[in-house]
Amino acid sequence: MRAVNAHSGLSEPELPTLLLEFHGAPAAVDEEVECVREVVSAIRGVIPKGMPLFIRISATDWIEGGWDIEQSIALAGQLGPLGVDLVDCSSGGISPAANAKIPVAPNYQVPFAEEIRGETGILTGAIGMITSMNQADTILREGRADVILMAREFLREPYWPLHAAHVEGFQASWPAQYLRAAPQGTPAREPMESPESARRASVRTSAAE
Ligand SMILES: Cc1cc2nc3c(=O)[nH]c(=O)nc-3n(C[C@H](O)[C@H](O)[C@H](O)COP(=O)(O)O)c2cc1C
Repeated sequence: MRAVNAHSGLSEPELPTLLLEFHGAPAAVDEEVECVREVVSAIRGVIPKGMPLFIRISATDWIEGGWDIEQSIALAGQLGPLGVDLVDCSSGGISPAANAKIPVAPNYQVPFAEEIRGETGILTGAIGMITSMNQADTILREGRADVILMAREFLREPYWPLHAAHVEGFQASWPAQYLRAAPQGTPAREPMESPESARRASVRTSAAE
């Protein structure tokens, strides 16, 4: 296994979602699949029942003889029954020495989300060069993925979701200190309650008593 990367409620208690990533290496694929199965089962066994468990996979290494979409489909088919809620479909970029040819362009990883979703029925997330509302909306409306994930565009435009919600006519809450700049009638954002933040609050309360 090349890398395991957990973005989690463990380090960010305000975000009660656990996102795991496994990037497959060509060797010992069976062992890697078994490892993914074991880790997923172990995590599902200890996190709260209602906490969504997302896994990021590298759907292909983009390398001849490397991990590929067929293997990803087979893996994804095993993950639903183990309690994974959504497969986030990334790809490659982990083997610079192997000269992977990655056709980076808008939507270039969407076909993986679409294929895994279509073949296994599990929910999938699409990521990679998705930057506009229309692009994200089209992917969802065409049933190519269930969730859109975005990274760099949020660095460029951190309030992208709030602007998109406004344009689409959804009411979204804004941080209380920004309300003076928000559309009329916008509600103030309430802090999210997670099991971990509730636990910390209760520890603070008991320490103060
Ligand atoms: C600041 C930053 C941190 C990232 N960290 C990770 C990471 O830990 N694991 C990962 O698989 N991808 C990571 N990525 C990659 C993004 O999740 C995403 O796959 C990539 O940026 C392509 O999507 P985009 O075109 O919307 O940026 C990161 C990207 C950025 C900009």
